[in-house]
Amino acid sequence: MDGLQPRVLLVDDELGTIELMGAILGRQGFRVTLARSSAEAIRELTAGTFDAVVTDVVFDGRAEGGEVLAACRDLHPTTVVILMTGYPKIEGAVSAIQGGAVDYLQKPVDPVVLAATIHRAVRERAMASEGLAFQELVDILSDLVAQTIERVDPYTAGHGERTRRYCRQIAQDLGIDSRTTERLELAAIAHDYGKIYLDDLTFLTKKGPLTPAEYKEVQRHPAVGAERLGSHAQLEEVCQFVAEHHERWDGTGYPHRLKGEEISAAGRVLGVVEVFDSLSTRRSYKDPWGLEKTMEFFEAQSGRSFDPGVIDVFLKLMEDHGEEWITAPQRDLEAAGIVPEGVSQQN
Ligand SMILES: [Fe+2]
Repeated sequence: MDGLQPRVLLVDDELGTIELMGAILGRQGFRVTLARSSAEAIRELTAGTFDAVVTDVVFDGRAEGGEVLAACRDLHPTTVVILMTGYPKIEGAVSAIQGGAVDYLQKPVDPVVLAATIHRAVRERAMASEGLAFQELVDILSDLVAQTIERVDPYTAGHGERTRRYCRQIAQDLGIDSRTTERLELAAIAHDYGKIYLDDLTFLTKKGPLTPAEYKEVQRHPAVGAERLGSHAQLEEVCQFVAEHHERWDGTGYPHRLKGEEISAAGRVLGVVEVFDSLSTRRSYKDPWGLEKTMEFFEAQSGRSFDPGVIDVFLKLMEDHGEEWITAPQRDLEAAGIVPEGVSQQN
C-alpha cells in the first residue's frame, strides 16, 4: 500500500457500474484500475500489483470470478479479494470463503460499504503481520475505525478519538496503571469496531428505533469486535475491554450480564464514557443532550448502570470540562463537513 492510498482492481462486465463505483472509490482515496472481463483482469494482475481486487462472480452468464480469484491467489497471494455476487447470501459466503476470498458483498453493492470493506480487509492484513509494536497497532486501528465505522455512519465522526481522550483522563484520576491505560485507550478507539461486521450496515444509520431483530443483531458487536481484533498477544486486554463495553454495573448489560467487579475497571470506565459521548452526539433520530440533563442522568445511574467510583471521578472532571466535552461532537461534525439534518436547539 502506498501511504494510505490502496490500489484497487475493480472487475465487472457492466462498464457503467464499475465506472461509477471507481469514481466514488477514487474520491475516497483509492487508486482504481478498471477491468471488464476476467481476461483483462488477469492481464492487469500479471502486469502490476494491487492491494485489493474487487470482482464480480458472473460475467455474461459465465462464472469467471473464480478465475480472477485463482489468478490472484497464484500471482499475488497477499492481495485482498472481495467478490460481488448476486447470489443468495449464504451460498455466496460459503463459496467465496472456500475459494479463498477475504469477503463478499451482495449486489447491488453500496460504494460506501465497498470502500469500508476494502479499508477493513487491507488494514486487517497489515495488522496480521508479526512483530508489530503496540503503537503501530494503535495507528492501524485508528485509521481503520476512521475509514470504516465513521464513514458508514458519519454522525459518529470523532467518537473513537473523544472516547479515548476522556477514558485516559478518568483512568489517570482513578490511578489505573499506565500499561492498562494504554490498552484502554486503544479499546476506546476500537470499541464499536464489531459493527462493521454486522449483516446489515444500513440500520446503523436508521432513523427511529430499531426493531427487536435489529437490536439483537447490533448487540453482537462487542463480542464480534473482540474476536475480529484477533489473537495478537498485545491486544489481549484490549479485546477484553471491547467485549465488556456494554456490560453494566448492576448486571443489566450485554452480552454476558456481568456485574460489579466482574467487569474490569477499564471496561467500567469505557462503559461510562461511551454512553456519555453517544448522549452528547446528534444522531439522525435525536438531538444531543444538554449538560444539565446529562449530569442528572449519570448521578441517577451511579450504582445502577455504572460503577459509583467511576461516576464520582467522571462528575468531578465534568465540573471542569463539561461544557467543552458536551459540545465536542458538534465541533467534530462541523470539522468533518457534516451538516446535520433538522438541527434544533440543545435540550
Ligand atoms: Fe458499542
